[in-house]
Amino acid sequence: MCKASITSVLILGGTSEGYALAEALADRADLRVVTSLAGRTSEPRRPAGALRVGGFGGVDGLAAYLAGGRIAAVIDATHPFAATMGDHAAQACADLGLPLLRLERPAWAPVPGDRWEPVNDWYGAVVALRMLGARRVLLAVGRQALAPFALLDDVWFLVRCVSPPSPLPAFAHAELLLDRGPFDLDAERMLLEAHNIDCIVCKNSGGSASAAKLQAARERGIPVVMRERPPRPALPAAADVAAALVWLRDVLAPQP
Ligand SMILES: NC(=O)c1ccc[n+]([C@@H]2O[C@H](COP(=O)([O-])OP(=O)(O)OC[C@H]3O[C@@H](n4cnc5c(N)ncnc54)[C@H](OP(=O)(O)O)[C@@H]3O)[C@@H](O)[C@H]2O)c1
Repeated sequence: MCKASITSVLILGGTSEGYALAEALADRADLRVVTSLAGRTSEPRRPAGALRVGGFGGVDGLAAYLAGGRIAAVIDATHPFAATMGDHAAQACADLGLPLLRLERPAWAPVPGDRWEPVNDWYGAVVALRMLGARRVLLAVGRQALAPFALLDDVWFLVRCVSPPSPLPAFAHAELLLDRGPFDLDAERMLLEAHNIDCIVCKNSGGSASAAKLQAARERGIPVVMRERPPRPALPAAADVAAALVWLRDVLAPQP
């Protein structure tokens, strides 16, 4: 295939959906697929296709990258809580008139037996823990969201993160557990039991890798303080890779 007929597509990644989409496009000789990662982890998994790492430098930096790389379409497959990158992508693509798709796994929804306390920010979660009278909390919020919880000096926290927080906020009572999903149901049950956990705080990431804790909490009858997803710009959206492939086919189809 001659080089001129190759179309460049950018995937804003950092999620299993981003990797799966890059994989699904790997055999397309007509496409050059670049996955962009923020560079938060030191040895990230390599996606299929090309990889670039690091921030773009805000909306203007992203727009310059898109124009310079002659990118024809962008798929924002970042994590549901990576809202800044999503906002930047929406602005840069609107400025350049580029098609942009949001690829996002569906949010979790409570089922009968769940005791969820929905909150919109981490200070709301602190208030919810007070209101619930929680004493032994599994804190699964990511290493960058820990600081507000250190305000609760009469609560013991099991702080579960993928990589070490630096620094770990000054919790009065806490234990750090470094672990990466997927987490299985039996292990989650045992974890809650072994540490006598009476509440979980987490974010509504969706997907299966970290959902077992929700069932374990339901079985134990304990509450889950659930941070709702941040708002996102109104965009075409796909809930899975198959739907993203259909969108890409349509936006890249030659116009009659
Ligand atoms: N937040 C979470 O809970 C979570 C969980 C799992 C994975 N992740 C992944 O980790 C990355 C960072 O998450 P975040 O919450 O810090 O994002 P964020 O708050 O939305 O983004 C902050 C800045 O990081 C850079 N950035 C983010 N994603 C990028 C990407 N895919 N490629 C290049 N630059 C990127 C951008 O810098 P510039 O302004 O300089 O362009 C962006 O303005 C995301 O890619 C996300 O998919 C996040």
